[in-house]
Amino acid sequence: MNILILTGSPRKGSNTDILAKAFADGARLKHEVDIVSVNDYKVNACIGCNTCFAREGNECFQRDQMAEIYAKMSNADMLVIASPVYFYGVSAQLKNIIDRCHTPMRKNFKIKKAALLLVAGSSKPCVFDAIVRQYELIVDYFHFEDKGRILVGGVNEKCSITGRKELDEAYKLGEAL
Ligand SMILES: Cc1cc2nc3c(=O)[nH]c(=O)nc-3n(C[C@H](O)[C@H](O)[C@H](O)COP(=O)(O)O)c2cc1C
Repeated sequence: MNILILTGSPRKGSNTDILAKAFADGARLKHEVDIVSVNDYKVNACIGCNTCFAREGNECFQRDQMAEIYAKMSNADMLVIASPVYFYGVSAQLKNIIDRCHTPMRKNFKIKKAALLLVAGSSKPCVFDAIVRQYELIVDYFHFEDKGRILVGGVNEKCSITGRKELDEAYKLGEAL
């Protein structure tokens, strides 16, 4: 499989990045893995004009780096969303990318599987509830197969995820694909 991991933290070397790398290290034993830090791409928010539905090729009128993300998505068999919890949601950078998948162009994607990797400062399990529910609904909407979720609470400072058992779980999730 071609596995595309979209990481949503704007902080380089972040807890999200470390978690995504653990998953990728396991998955790379059998699969091609592309880790894309979405903060490196200038992607505007969807403005809801719906003109992509009428335009030839269903392209968005916005000329930004979402074109590169669409290309990567077209090539992917599996999509992994990796994000810090920001006010109970995914990061804004990642949400922009999700919303830009409103275009019918997504019909050309061949993504069949998905996984979710999250980190949060709080140790309360409910901190992930809203994102997990959104993920479940999106997975259902697109008829993806959910391959698993790794949720790591209680990590706030950069790199504080180091040594956590969930890194091993993320590696094993990737390895098991
Ligand atoms: C804008 C912002 C909003 C945040 N909101 C939450 C939150 O709602 N709940 C929580 O537990 N942590 C919250 N955090 C803390 C981050 O989830 C936490 O620091 C995480 O480790 C950051 O991940 P990163 O190292 O990958 O950037 C927030 C952090 C920021 C910067």
